[in-house]
Amino acid sequence: MATWSAPGKVFLFGEHAVVYGKPGVAMAIRPRVSVTVRKSRNPSHARSPYIEECFRSTGVQGSVYIRSQLPSSSGLGSSAAVTAATLAAISDEFGLGFSRDEIARRAHEIERKVQKGRASPTDTYVTTFGGIVLITGDSKRRLPPQNLNLVIGNTLVSHSTAKMVEHVARGRERTPEIVDPILEAIGAVTMRAVKSLNKPQPLGRCMDINHALLDALGVGHPELSKLVLTARAAGAFGAKITGAGGGGCMVALCPKNAKSRVAGAIDATGARSIITTLDTEGIRRE
Ligand code: PMV
Repeated sequence: MATWSAPGKVFLFGEHAVVYGKPGVAMAIRPRVSVTVRKSRNPSHARSPYIEECFRSTGVQGSVYIRSQLPSSSGLGSSAAVTAATLAAISDEFGLGFSRDEIARRAHEIERKVQKGRASPTDTYVTTFGGIVLITGDSKRRLPPQNLNLVIGNTLVSHSTAKMVEHVARGRERTPEIVDPILEAIGAVTMRAVKSLNKPQPLGRCMDINHALLDALGVGHPELSKLVLTARAAGAFGAKITGAGGGGCMVALCPKNAKSRVAGAIDATGARSIITTLDTEGIRRE
């Protein structure tokens, strides 16, 4: 029997623009998914297409047990975490000797296959290696770790990443002269943020600008705007949509002593808060 876990993630900067080759910054967060794999001739496992594909692609059979601290379909990378942890547990239980690089690569292939087309390697890379990662095109670079106090607000409004990506693509076809400069500006804010990662106030301002630009792209939602304004009023340095938008989650950067106040204010609106910080480990044996 082998148990491995993997962390969730948030996009700190650059979502959507990253699809068009601009830089993006994502960060692994503390809530984890933990997966136990046991060799078995009678494979019984949760019927998730990600897990099915982990077994099919490695050609082994076993049973699986999953525990998750991550809400699914909220943009916090739960499917990538399940996939990476399952591959790591399979490799351990069956002695396949996969390296981290191999796990990240296979997990990305599986996400692409299950999601039928576009899945950026961001989620699978960040969950496998942990840390803060700068993504530009095909290149990924780990940035120096920072102790960022984050409060995530889950609107509980369901959304579809594919639809939001499509929405931006349509906007670009219709009015490239408007949408392209917005994507360009998101890239510029991301690069400015990378230089300010250890300065919470300027970093918070970058989040606020990035949020406004995402709204301008049309991937906002009234519930997201409400939570962003609520977090700022409760003392956050800055707040923005995280991930695809149209629902899902927002993230606020907070002074240490304001985390609970921001989380309480988010919960009071009927949304669900998560207080968290950086995970530097990525996949780990339990
Ligand atoms: O909602 P998430 O975390 O899956 O984020 C999607 C991020 C996009 O930039 C919109 C798409 C992508 O694949 O990078």
